[in-house]
Amino acid sequence: MNAPMLRIADLTKRFGGLVALDRVTLDFEPNILHAIIGPNGAGKTTLFNVISGMLKSDSGTVQFRGKDITGMAPHRISRLGMSRSLQIKSVFDSMTVAENLWIAAQARQGVMHPFASRSRFGRTTERVDGILEQIGLTGLRNSPAGTLSYGDVALLEIGIALATEPSLLLLDEPICGMGPAETAETVEKIRHLAEEVDLIIIEHDMPVVFDLADRITVMAQGGVLARGTPDEIARNAAVREAYLGDEEEEDDPDA
Ligand SMILES: Nc1ncnc2c1ncn2[C@@H]1O[C@H](COP(=O)(O)OP(=O)(O)OP(=O)(O)O)[C@@H](O)[C@H]1O
Ligand SMILES: [Mg+2]
Repeated sequence: MNAPMLRIADLTKRFGGLVALDRVTLDFEPNILHAIIGPNGAGKTTLFNVISGMLKSDSGTVQFRGKDITGMAPHRISRLGMSRSLQIKSVFDSMTVAENLWIAAQARQGVMHPFASRSRFGRTTERVDGILEQIGLTGLRNSPAGTLSYGDVALLEIGIALATEPSLLLLDEPICGMGPAETAETVEKIRHLAEEVDLIIIEHDMPVVFDLADRITVMAQGGVLARGTPDEIARNAAVREAYLGDEEEEDDPDA
């Protein structure tokens, strides 16, 4: 069996009196697409914040590919190959798609030095071309980011997260706010991406989650309510009651 790529043990995070993560213990295996679902305030984003080093936990440990990264600074964790998309917009509207990616890829290589070697610039340019392919925005490379559709901005955000060449990518609500057509397109691109990097996505759109994910983790009130395959989760009585509601899934005309 595969060793877990990410191992979270007994993780607790409090905000004053509020327990946002309550002794969370989770293993994530490599090479399958993981989704985390759960009602608002369940602690999903907080979990990403702690895993990626943006927040320090009060107790517990995080191991990434066998290495203890508990309390490590975000840039060090990023160098180990973990990247995340931010909910805060990190795209520069006046720059083109390719320029946005170029800045992100160059930042990865160190300072943007005016005398940086040509070979390094060459490598960055190659990297940008590769990311454009991965996110399917090659045709829009010279478009200013400010003119992109909502869905394409979201893809560009994913591209920026990919600039650090991660082996694990954490996506927080990647299709939030998209219409049906954009959602379908983005879902396909995420599926494609999952062939190259390990992915954990937080997502509220249930048809998308059940379509994309190999494994689903259900969080509620800072804890883990259930884990399993989409089938297992759909049949889980506690999940249906606490989260999905006890009704049948509605039909999605675009699925
Ligand atoms: N920086 C913070 N300071 C204080 N409380 C916070 C902070 N971040 C999150 N919380 C609280 O912790 C709880 C968990 O929040 P979190 O953002 O992790 O939930 P979530 O599962 O991502 O929800 P959503 O689905 O709405 O994004 C919430 O009650 C939230 O208000
Ligand atoms: Mg959240």
